[in-house]
Amino acid sequence: MIAGRINVVPARQDDLDAIMNLERSGFEPAEQWSERSWQGELLGEGRTVLIARSHQPLGVIALQTVDHTADLHRLVVAPQHRRSRVATQLVQAGVEAVRHLGARSVILEVHWTNEPAIALYQRLGFEQLAARNDYYGPGQHALILKLWDLQVPVTLTEVEQ
Ligand SMILES: CC(C)(COP(=O)(O)OP(=O)(O)OC[C@H]1O[C@@H](n2cnc3c(N)ncnc32)[C@H](O)[C@@H]1OP(=O)(O)O)[C@@H](O)C(=O)NCCC(=O)NCCS
Repeated sequence: MIAGRINVVPARQDDLDAIMNLERSGFEPAEQWSERSWQGELLGEGRTVLIARSHQPLGVIALQTVDHTADLHRLVVAPQHRRSRVATQLVQAGVEAVRHLGARSVILEVHWTNEPAIALYQRLGFEQLAARNDYYGPGQHALILKLWDLQVPVTLTEVEQ
């Protein structure tokens, strides 16, 4: 249960510590991004980094827009705040932001056994485009998912609040 309203806002440079805490809470050590990688997201060209907060940081999303395609690079929600639609709000806000930057579609890779993430993305309208064998290492396959037609006003699958 999340106390108070959830705000999704652009992340700033001084959110880096909070982002790193979310990163460490959400991924196994071997999968964690470094501070430098997140710096790249915060400072890089065409990047959209949004942070969800109530009284505390709840989750973060990073996307990169190049021409008409946005790549969803990272999404994580703190374990104690999952299943409260935080990721749903982050993805919806991220899609809206990249749509304004000119993106017509969003693409992402997800580990083929990451059922929570696959369920989330499918619920939000992403469709499987391809699978890449051994993408994350031997036997570690990836699914490539895509959300199409963003220039049509966003009609993500309705979710009850
Ligand atoms: C995947 C992740 C971002 C989902 O965050 P979340 O805030 O819990 O997601 P939401 O509450 O918005 O979930 C929306 C819907 O997605 C699906 N979903 C989310 N988590 C799920 C789970 N553990 N099992 C099954 N379905 C799930 C459900 O349909 C859910 O709706 P419901 O709760 O009404 O059933 C979160 O589990 C996470 O941070 N995981 C670790 C990092 C990660 O894997 N990131 C994605 C890498 S591509």
